[in-house]
Amino acid sequence: MGLTRRQFVKLNAALAASLATANAWSTGSLIRKTIPSSGEQVTAMGIGTNRYGVTSDEDKAVLQDTLARFAELGGSIIDTAPSYGRGLSEVVLGEIAGAAGLSRQLFWATKVDARVPGPEQLEASLRKLGVDQADLIQVHNLRETAAQLPFLREAREEGLLRYIGVTTHRPTQHQDIEQLLKTEKLDFIQVNYSLADRSAADRLLPAAQEHGAAVLVNIPFARGRLFEKVGDRPLPDWAAEFDCRSWGNFFLKYIISHPAVTSPIPGTRKVRHAVDNMRAATGRLPSPELRQRQEALIDSL
Ligand SMILES: NC(=O)c1ccc[n+]([C@@H]2O[C@H](COP(=O)([O-])OP(=O)(O)OC[C@H]3O[C@@H](n4cnc5c(N)ncnc54)[C@H](OP(=O)(O)O)[C@@H]3O)[C@@H](O)[C@H]2O)c1
Repeated sequence: MGLTRRQFVKLNAALAASLATANAWSTGSLIRKTIPSSGEQVTAMGIGTNRYGVTSDEDKAVLQDTLARFAELGGSIIDTAPSYGRGLSEVVLGEIAGAAGLSRQLFWATKVDARVPGPEQLEASLRKLGVDQADLIQVHNLRETAAQLPFLREAREEGLLRYIGVTTHRPTQHQDIEQLLKTEKLDFIQVNYSLADRSAADRLLPAAQEHGAAVLVNIPFARGRLFEKVGDRPLPDWAAEFDCRSWGNFFLKYIISHPAVTSPIPGTRKVRHAVDNMRAATGRLPSPELRQRQEALIDSL
């Protein structure tokens, strides 16, 4: 039986309303940040892929859906590395981004960590990812930085990459990165920073701001430990003041609201988590006072 005119009009109105919500979310209301060295704007939410080294078609299909939903909601920064997923993450990402028709629209951030700097690792990354140019190449955990940075500058001259950065996830390397910011022109740094580990805010994040480096934030959930910490507690009422709908939003909005931060790169393989994380890049952010309340709450657990 066909729809009556009344049912048809109602259905259309419901569809239009849901589309309006999806559009409002994926375009106008997204929080975007500026890369200081170029002025380019990027959405303040990326995705980390250190567990993308899957082999079965089923697992790849799930990751493809995750990546597609992330991109559909306005996400673009993909953080990866030649070593991730037992050396397979880049291959899988190239495959699923290609299959989803996303290779060209994503912001590819990968790394160099070879003991001997050279074109082989960078060329292999580009080949695996299925692109001619990487958006960002980062020296992984400061390995051989002194040799890698001149190599990366040459590669940029050749058009193989757009931005240069360095990464760490260890507070013990923060001082080294601070020093590098003073002596090298870095477009990006990538550091550990979360409600569970706020040490980067002492000196490194202000230094990045001072020297005009964009900041990607790794392990934003302390590798999931922040979720364990809050357990099944409800969100505090005041989390509504900065549009939190989940603990994931609560943790990520704390990071995005730091003025030095360009984007966190939470690691996820799940569609629903990618959607939840993208939602953190919408709506209001916590004020300095609310950030202090967030810190006090987490410290009290
Ligand atoms: N030195 C370096 O360069 C360095 C070091 C470490 C990490 N990284 C980068 O940083 C990225 C992030 O770090 P990470 O993945 O180790 O740790 P993380 O982002 O702090 O936590 C990832 C964990 O959180 C879960 N998760 C993600 N979104 C969630 C949500 N909305 N709700 C509930 N759980 C959620 C994930 O599980 P599901 O998969 O089930 O969502 C996973 O168990 C890495 O993927 C990598 O790209 C770089």
